[in-house]
Amino acid sequence: MPKWMESAVFYEIYPQSFYDANGDGIGDLEGIIQKLGFIKDLGCNALWINPCFDSPFRDAGYDVRDYKKVAPRYGTNEDLKQLFTDAHKQGIKVLLDLVPGHTSEEHPWFQESQKSEPNEYSNRYIWTDQWWKKVEGFGYVAGEAERESVYLINFFKCQPALNYGFFKIAEPWQLPMDHPDCIATMNAIMDVMRFWLDAGCDGFRVDMAFSLVKNDDEKKTGTSALWRTVREMLDRDYPEAALVSEWGFPELSIPAGFHADFLLHSEGEGYRSLTRNYTLDCRHTIVGEDKSFFKKDGKGDITVFLDEYRKHYEVCKENGGCIALISCNHDTIRPSFTLSPRELAVFYGFLFTMPGTPFLYYGDEIGMRYLNLPTKEGGYFRTGSRTPMQWNTGKNLGFSKAPAEKLYLPVDASPDAPTVEAQEKESASLLNTVKTLLRLRRENADLQAQPNLEILYAKKEAFPLIYCRGSLAIAVNPADSPVSVDISPLLSSPARNIYMIGNCQLEKGWCKMEAQSFGVWKM
Ligand code: GLC
Repeated sequence: MPKWMESAVFYEIYPQSFYDANGDGIGDLEGIIQKLGFIKDLGCNALWINPCFDSPFRDAGYDVRDYKKVAPRYGTNEDLKQLFTDAHKQGIKVLLDLVPGHTSEEHPWFQESQKSEPNEYSNRYIWTDQWWKKVEGFGYVAGEAERESVYLINFFKCQPALNYGFFKIAEPWQLPMDHPDCIATMNAIMDVMRFWLDAGCDGFRVDMAFSLVKNDDEKKTGTSALWRTVREMLDRDYPEAALVSEWGFPELSIPAGFHADFLLHSEGEGYRSLTRNYTLDCRHTIVGEDKSFFKKDGKGDITVFLDEYRKHYEVCKENGGCIALISCNHDTIRPSFTLSPRELAVFYGFLFTMPGTPFLYYGDEIGMRYLNLPTKEGGYFRTGSRTPMQWNTGKNLGFSKAPAEKLYLPVDASPDAPTVEAQEKESASLLNTVKTLLRLRRENADLQAQPNLEILYAKKEAFPLIYCRGSLAIAVNPADSPVSVDISPLLSSPARNIYMIGNCQLEKGWCKMEAQSFGVWKM
């Protein structure tokens, strides 16, 4: 793992909505440059920027039309290079979003590939051998191409799947992974990576990293082999570059060569059980009970998370990778949808004191709300988590000087919409809590990414959770009732409190925590 990743705290930016410097209603790279000071002051030292490349934006930029060109609505390639330079001056690393599984249907490779006349790109995407036959087991599009066949898609209709070959060949049109045209696809993507690494970026968050080789086995042997080739290239030519996967399964992704992998709500129950243990209906309303661990109702169960986490953790420890825990991302409902500022503070206490690499989604530091909005750029329910950042109480909450009707998405119209400006002034605000937690993390060598976690106390359907990281003991009680537990057999050394939310004590073998509290002690 590159050394800098060991102390990295990421801030995820959805560029559309962060800061609009040129007043056209949509965020831009210059806007990010202008806010680097805020990000540094917050305590983040790395960025993940959602795709900012040329695109028809039918999936918010995850439908890339030109991998090597910044989308004009965000600026130019020169602006992106300037962002790298300015971020580096402030000690901030920048990850771009690499989308290797598919392109836009408007990508020139696809335009060539769909032609009936065979050419260099004919096999760049996955085509069957008949236009009228159903394809079992895959999403596909028929009736759109010049070729007399159909093509497989990776996500939406606008995202034809790039062809890295099939692990198990079941049909004559499925190419093996070692077919020269499949190898050419991987080389083309590595060429894109080199292009941006040479321009100054520090690595990639990799979209749907698990999805490359089709008909792969359960262990993702084919896809993993490809990523190991990428990692070899990086280790050799760009040893400081980081590779972070959207996979959700560190047991596979870390041995496949990723430095870090996100835990996702779509993979298993573990991560979901922390803050999103609920079901939504199509109107974005919760149906049934919310049994999230960080909800004060006390219906959650930390062992659901830990049972899965432990397995991932052991693999990370063996292979030198780490788990990326997120506050939220552009695909999930903001945590403030169900958690109050106090519940969020306790959750962030946990998030920023766990091993691995934390990712904070823009706006979660002030508890920005999820808005119920109609879909935009393929966002569907995700749109409500992608609204403009709330900087101050001025026009458009300080996001843009454009008329309100020209904004990419509306800003939160409620009179008490949280803003950076207001929370900066209030010492106990969520923003200041996040800053303090990140300072605590930064100043304690034991709180970096390394796997030094020891669970001291975690019981089924009970509180608190107590864990150690090196010389620090950390206790979390999200429930709205106080709790005391005897930990004398587990922790005998005297401990000095160095941080707390609410009141809590760790002394004479007892951990006593008031409702909704969080504490860190030095032993
Ligand atoms: C990932 C992205 C998501 C996108 C999808 C298709 O899950 O995070 O936003 O829609 O991949 O690229």
